[in-house]
Amino acid sequence: MDKIVIHGGQRLKGEVTIHGAKNAALLIQCAALLTDRKCAIRHLPRLSDIATMSELLGHLGCEVTGDRTLKIDPAGVGEGPREAPYEMVKTMRASVTVMGPLLARHGFCRVSLPGGCAIGARPIDQHLKGLEALGAKIAIKHGYVELKAKRLRGANFVFDTVTVGGTQNVMMAATLAKGVTRLENVAREPEVEELARVLVKMGARISGAGGTAIEIEGVDALDGFDHAVVPDRIEAGTFAVAAAVTRGDVMLLDAPVDHMHATIAKLEEAGVECRVENAGLRVIGPERLSPVDISTRPYPGFPTDMQAQMMVLATCAAGQSLITETIFENRFMHVPELACMGADVTVHGHSAVVRGGPRLTGAEVMATDLRASASLVLAGLVADGTTEIRRVYHLDRGYEAIEKRLRGLGANIRRFHGAKG
Ligand code: EPZ
Repeated sequence: MDKIVIHGGQRLKGEVTIHGAKNAALLIQCAALLTDRKCAIRHLPRLSDIATMSELLGHLGCEVTGDRTLKIDPAGVGEGPREAPYEMVKTMRASVTVMGPLLARHGFCRVSLPGGCAIGARPIDQHLKGLEALGAKIAIKHGYVELKAKRLRGANFVFDTVTVGGTQNVMMAATLAKGVTRLENVAREPEVEELARVLVKMGARISGAGGTAIEIEGVDALDGFDHAVVPDRIEAGTFAVAAAVTRGDVMLLDAPVDHMHATIAKLEEAGVECRVENAGLRVIGPERLSPVDISTRPYPGFPTDMQAQMMVLATCAAGQSLITETIFENRFMHVPELACMGADVTVHGHSAVVRGGPRLTGAEVMATDLRASASLVLAGLVADGTTEIRRVYHLDRGYEAIEKRLRGLGANIRRFHGAKG
């Protein structure tokens, strides 16, 4: 298992290019299951999650080639098992979003239930309720959910809770349903809009994506697509915090500024200068950061995927910050690890009080999930001394070669392959 070693204290300087968005790309890979025509996805980051989804598509009968540009030929799907096995779903929960497209296109699928995850229970009840509203017959047995429907039919459905994956799964299914579907209380994330953009390219009739209700008029068949993925707002936010906490000056090339308003607003509140330029976003960290209160919300509110990174910023700010996590019930796994580095953070239920100021100190820490591991890298950049981060496979799920790109900005950071423990 790899580990990352950081000697803290360098100011980051220079420019870094923001890669394509993981959470958009994964769903666009699933959209290929809605057609038998060739599909191409460009501007992809090299991430283990994208590779896992490609493996699942291969298991379902797709021919998948390439990496930065992925070529998917789904013509073979339907001859093989229309099943997402436990082995793949347990590695990556987003695998459940093959359900809607497989059911809509092939009338049957069997998907392993994802079970819990480090950051929360993460049920899929809303996905199933939505597909049931479109006429799916659902049975749960032996840890799998089986869905059947000769042809789905359009319906009105209101989500009980705002869910990104649920919105995307049911929206994809509705594109091939008979009649019109109206989905309400939907997620408004840019990744939902991006998926709708691709589906419309395939010939789907969708309106309202990005708003609180989406309408889909079903069609009989969809075409293939060729699409370049939008840049990753969470990767850009992570590098922005890296510049902020190191009192650096970094240009985030291709940063999707329009998708980052909530993050930029909180950075500015903390005293960080964020300059929107043609090429992207320039982030300049102040000598002294100010405390900032954050409450995670569905988009366009503050993203939960930036919560751990902003907690590190709060540890560097002189004063007290309150961070409230409203999306996932267990997303403070980074707190005990940051405490090993001297952070003064107290968790009360869904909130954490961060008393910032004293400099963090380097330590041996363990990554627990993707964004928690990013926060440990950020903490290592500012800490006094050496930080060793283990289980960095979590990091590789969402950040491509982050240590190389940070080293390009002047950080003293290295990866050691096959480290013990
Ligand atoms: C997506 O997960 C992202 N993953 C997550 O990013 C992100 O944290 C999350 O949206 C919220 O923004 C991908 O896009 C692949 P949800 P998703 O369904 O779709 C509850 C990262 O770091 N819920 O919007 O799984 C659920 O438990 C990852 O890149 C139900 O109760 O999230 C949670 O509390 C982590 N029933 C809340 O809704 C359901 O059927 C939001 O979950 C579905 C969800």
